[in-house]
Amino acid sequence: MSEATITRGLEGVIAGETAVCSVEQGQLIYRGYEIHDLAENATFEETAFLLLEGHKPTPDQLRRFTDEVIAERPISQSVINFLRDVRPNLKAGTAVPMDVLRTGVSILAHEDKDCQDNSPAANLRKSKRLLAKIPTIIGHMQTFLDGRDLVDPKTGGDPKLTHAANLLYLMTGEKPTAEAAHVMDVSLILYAEHDYNASTFTSRVIAGTLSDLHGAVTGAIAALKGPLHGGANEAAMEMLAEIRKDIGPANQPDKINAWMDNAFTTKRKLMGFGHRVYKNGDHRAPILHGLGRQLAAQKGDSYVKLFELGEHVQKIMLDKKNIHPNVDFPCGMTYFTMGIPVPQYTPIFVASRITGWAAHIMEQHANNRLIRPIAKYVGPAITPWNK
Ligand code: COA
Repeated sequence: MSEATITRGLEGVIAGETAVCSVEQGQLIYRGYEIHDLAENATFEETAFLLLEGHKPTPDQLRRFTDEVIAERPISQSVINFLRDVRPNLKAGTAVPMDVLRTGVSILAHEDKDCQDNSPAANLRKSKRLLAKIPTIIGHMQTFLDGRDLVDPKTGGDPKLTHAANLLYLMTGEKPTAEAAHVMDVSLILYAEHDYNASTFTSRVIAGTLSDLHGAVTGAIAALKGPLHGGANEAAMEMLAEIRKDIGPANQPDKINAWMDNAFTTKRKLMGFGHRVYKNGDHRAPILHGLGRQLAAQKGDSYVKLFELGEHVQKIMLDKKNIHPNVDFPCGMTYFTMGIPVPQYTPIFVASRITGWAAHIMEQHANNRLIRPIAKYVGPAITPWNK
């Protein structure tokens, strides 16, 4: 094989076709609908229907879909027991919420009567169950961590609440304000799908062996966890917290500049910046930044200051490195403003991206070809074992 055919990280390689999503400079499109349009005019439930069922829902179809998902929200006693028993590991730090969610999804697989059935109808049923149950796992996990009573375990929250509002309710035990529920809803729309990103590609590779949907989702969760992918929303907030600790709460420009200069000198990667595909900016970032900032203005001065710090960091990155923030940067600040514990940011990403993964897994199963590239060998030459 010639050197020219190797593309590190498969950058720019078109690895297959999809009708689910298009990511191009200037536009992000889910099944023909542009992301600004969806963020402004659709709900997360409508977006989930669009991705999973393949078209915009009628009001009746949406009602049916929403009812089906709400009915699937409760999780079994076995999963609840696991979430209770893993609490010491979470407290000790040997487990993190993304790992716990991954195992939770694995247990759901064992309980799902459709688990080994890869037919389109079974895959759709499993997708809706996962969409419904993932927020319940996240919510109950956090409740055990906080040492509170589980929130409505028989119903998996309040059936009257939307996916976004119920997720916040399950995590905190308190009904969110309309503003907080709206911001969460939009963040879920923005996170729902992104063509052949690392976790989705992982899910397609697994589905391409004709393995099952739960297995493909489990692998996707492991891929999303990494800080170069979904884990960046947690890492971005941790980085901002570190800057705040180092420079103090006053946001003095000279101190921020000095912190950034040091980051550049030490060749540190700044989390929540850069993107493999978007080199001129991530379309989703300004949408979430604007909404998060509005929420911060309602919550108080320290949250506004956090956004001001973030904006200063963004300006330096753009001026000095010409690197734009990705959606994970405003997400970190926004979820922090909402009072969500940092280690749950990436699990919340899963509560949304399950829709995109499932759509891709179904697309892969519907027109399958094993995904199996080859590598250029650079190891030692052949040596006889007994020489
Ligand atoms: N901080 C500092 N420098 C960065 C950077 C960042 N977040 N992202 C890219 N760069 C620099 C690289 O170091 C490289 O510089 P060099 O040419 O001097 O070596 C240059 O920009 C090109 O970046 P490259 O590594 O080729 O980009 P990529 O397409 O391989 O990586 C990411 C894309 C997302 C992995 C990368 O931008 C990154 O690690 N970002 C931080 C993690 C993150 O936010 N992930 C979420 C993505 S949605």
